[in-house]
Amino acid sequence: MTEQSGQTPTLDNLSTESRVFAPADDFSAAANVGAAAYEQGTADREAFWAEQADRLSWDTRWERVLDWDDAPFAKWFVGGKLNVAANCVDRHVEAGLGDRVAIHWVGEPGDSRAITYADLLREVSKTANALTELGLEAGDRVAIQMPMIPEAIFSMLACARLGLVHSVVFGGFSSAALRSRIDDAQARLLITSDGQYRRGAPAPMKDNTDEATAHTPSIEHVLVVRRTGGEVKWTDGRDLWWHEVVDRQAETHEAQPFDAEHPLFILYTSGTTGNPKGILHTSGGYLTQASYTHHAVFDLKPETDVYWCTADIGWITGHSYIVYGPLSNGVTQVVYEGTPNTPHEGRHWEIIQEHKVSIYYTAPTLIRTFMKWGADIPARYDLSSLRVLGSVGEPINPEAWIWYRENVGANRTPIVDTWWQTETGAIMISPLPGVTHTKPGSAQRALPGISAKVVDDQGVEVGKGGGGYLVLDQPWPSMLRGIWGDNDRYRDTYWSRFADLGFYFAGDGAKYDADGDIWLLGRVDDVMNVSGHRISTTEVESALVSHPTVAEAAVVGASDPTTGQGIVAFVILRGSAKPDDSTVKTLRDHVATEIGPIAKPRQVLIVNELPKTRSGKIMRRLLRDVAENRAIGDTTTLADSAVMDLISTGLKSTT
Ligand code: PRX
Repeated sequence: MTEQSGQTPTLDNLSTESRVFAPADDFSAAANVGAAAYEQGTADREAFWAEQADRLSWDTRWERVLDWDDAPFAKWFVGGKLNVAANCVDRHVEAGLGDRVAIHWVGEPGDSRAITYADLLREVSKTANALTELGLEAGDRVAIQMPMIPEAIFSMLACARLGLVHSVVFGGFSSAALRSRIDDAQARLLITSDGQYRRGAPAPMKDNTDEATAHTPSIEHVLVVRRTGGEVKWTDGRDLWWHEVVDRQAETHEAQPFDAEHPLFILYTSGTTGNPKGILHTSGGYLTQASYTHHAVFDLKPETDVYWCTADIGWITGHSYIVYGPLSNGVTQVVYEGTPNTPHEGRHWEIIQEHKVSIYYTAPTLIRTFMKWGADIPARYDLSSLRVLGSVGEPINPEAWIWYRENVGANRTPIVDTWWQTETGAIMISPLPGVTHTKPGSAQRALPGISAKVVDDQGVEVGKGGGGYLVLDQPWPSMLRGIWGDNDRYRDTYWSRFADLGFYFAGDGAKYDADGDIWLLGRVDDVMNVSGHRISTTEVESALVSHPTVAEAAVVGASDPTTGQGIVAFVILRGSAKPDDSTVKTLRDHVATEIGPIAKPRQVLIVNELPKTRSGKIMRRLLRDVAENRAIGDTTTLADSAVMDLISTGLKSTT
């Protein structure tokens, strides 16, 4: 396949994997979704999704399932009205399930809270009443930067209940990143906490939001949860304690229905250019697919299962598979605040044992970390409650898949490798645990009602064994409805690559195996995937260049045994700047301050030149060769072919 400007999909390293695991007969016999669903989904896609929408409770039924007349701007369940929060909370209480635990919350220092659906209804109602008291009205934007504490979930659901559009910003993002997201969405309220527990110690959070809100005129109030009790600076009139404003509110709140296409949230994600994109999701279609896929892919049995997704609510996985999917299905779930090795490396297994977790959904980077820590650690715990394991965020290498199955799943549990994106809103390609004969490293097949293809440069579907680009050739209910405030960028980014064919271009390389199953191969654009987090090379380059000593920077994602990819930066210093022992540290720290610790380069290499084409484009492919210690590839299109020698020699002399 041809390469765009970024990562080279590695077709070859997966081609030798041939192991297959059939589902156990008793699992299949009791599974929520069988093979017939695929036929239903293909025979009449709209009827299939209408049936799934009926799993929710609607105040007004839709008139039309899909309006694609103004493609690529979709409308699903046109004319339908529902309240997303009432679907996640009230209807379970009304069905007599108020005493069921919704959230077993586990704090990092060892504190915990069991929150029933009745409790959740009270908390969400109080929060909604507080937000109303603050003058917020349907359509207003609310920014949320919070740790994994219950109030974060109450806040998201209170927004959904009032038709407010939440924009959750991952707790690890810098004040500059938070500020640009608040500005872009013109958020009126920010919800945060004084601090959070990470790696066994309290860390401040409000300090970061204070730096951001010093420059965000749209923010009227900052609502602050007291989590660590650490000291905070206070701006009278603007800052409000959660316990002073929310706790005194009435415990009931009447939820109003909203249009199926009412905006539910914005979530910013990295693209190929510097500015993060505000991905917009709406209500009815999003909830339909989040809810159905959670039920189907995890074979969810809400009466008996205990589900745990280890993501953070700051990412789409936390939105769809901690908040909206699981709660709409009325399951009991675990929410854990902290890091997986606090206070010890068995913390996750201890939680699974204690809460009898039956479905565990995590990321390959964490699985590889567990592998590094050793199989003897999970072996010390009783993990027999587990019956389905999930993976998300990046391609899972077959070794990690097999380790997961053997050491966590006792060679018994199905593994669902789920491919999807912030933009798709919900899972698109994944095995179904009662149907699919799973293959380590393959997400395999589009879910019922979803259509995905691997195509070549021209958009022609490749044959079995062929590789190319992953596209989605039919609209789906939880698809993004656009990029906040930028329709042109929406069209350009996703729909222009195969404009004549009307395909959504996912930005991923993929291949079909001999059975026609799909194997994802990583990004084909300038987006890196570090521990399952999307970071654009341009974003990191801009951060580096914003440092006064840096003249030019080029960033690549180099393969990394634990994090999938690691960020490697090649930096040219300004004429007057002389590198010393602290230069590399200073630049790495600078990126952490500008974007957040997740974007800190693994390596910063100071060079005198960068490889460029005659048109001035940096040839990242060659830099990746250097970063991955490979022989340098074809340099014939370089403007100056001696540059790579200079870089390689320069590096040797500095190491
Ligand atoms: O490259 C794919 C990778 O993660 C990207 C989407 O990132 P984000 O929007 O942050 O959402 C992550 C959580 C859904 C995709 O374009 N990706 C995600 N899941 C997989 C994956 N790559 C391979 N296999 C997966 N299961």
